[in-house]
Amino acid sequence: VYNNPMIHYPLSTLMLSGIRDILIISTPKDIKHYEKLLGDGENIGLNLSYAIQKKPRGIAEAFIIGEDFIGKDDVCLILGDNIFYGKIIPQLLTKTYNEVSDNDYSIIFGYNVHDSGRYGVVEFDNNFNAVSIEEKPEQPKSNYAIVGLYFYKNDVISLAKNVKPSQRGELEITTVNQEYLKQNRLKVKLLDSVFWLD
Ligand code: G1P
Repeated sequence: VYNNPMIHYPLSTLMLSGIRDILIISTPKDIKHYEKLLGDGENIGLNLSYAIQKKPRGIAEAFIIGEDFIGKDDVCLILGDNIFYGKIIPQLLTKTYNEVSDNDYSIIFGYNVHDSGRYGVVEFDNNFNAVSIEEKPEQPKSNYAIVGLYFYKNDVISLAKNVKPSQRGELEITTVNQEYLKQNRLKVKLLDSVFWLD
């Protein structure tokens, strides 16, 4: 993308959030290319690890694959094909990171689009609590797409283990978010002055 391998973009978003310990999960075929490109990350101030997702079994499987890596920490997930651009990113994400550490809820981000039905869609109340979450609904309840950047409490690992595969055979990240919503533990932040691309 422009003059960089695409993975540089999500990695730099994580770096701007103050995150240094990163597990890169990819296919058996592609993982070695990432490893060759980025190594252990030391030269760019990162601590990179690698893991394979054998089959495309869904985004939520990341927490099962990454269980040992995550350990007892809270965790941020970013999708490798999402690009975020905006001045407020470092401040917003550092704040989000601290907020999840200090509270018992997880945080997702909503982005205003005209075609939200192409994405996960979130509806929220005046206090930015999520009130409904749907994956690619035909009749979206809001114009807010859920972007591929999520900050979760550590119990996302056990939630992911209980997710049943969807019709497309994947462990949907939307199912994880719906579970946090059921427990009233899901907050939404808006990416108002940020540019987002999937
Ligand atoms: C995935 C998620 C969806 C989210 C999107 C963001 O969709 O399932 O909820 O809005 O990423 O990029 P997918 O790319 O798997 O269709």
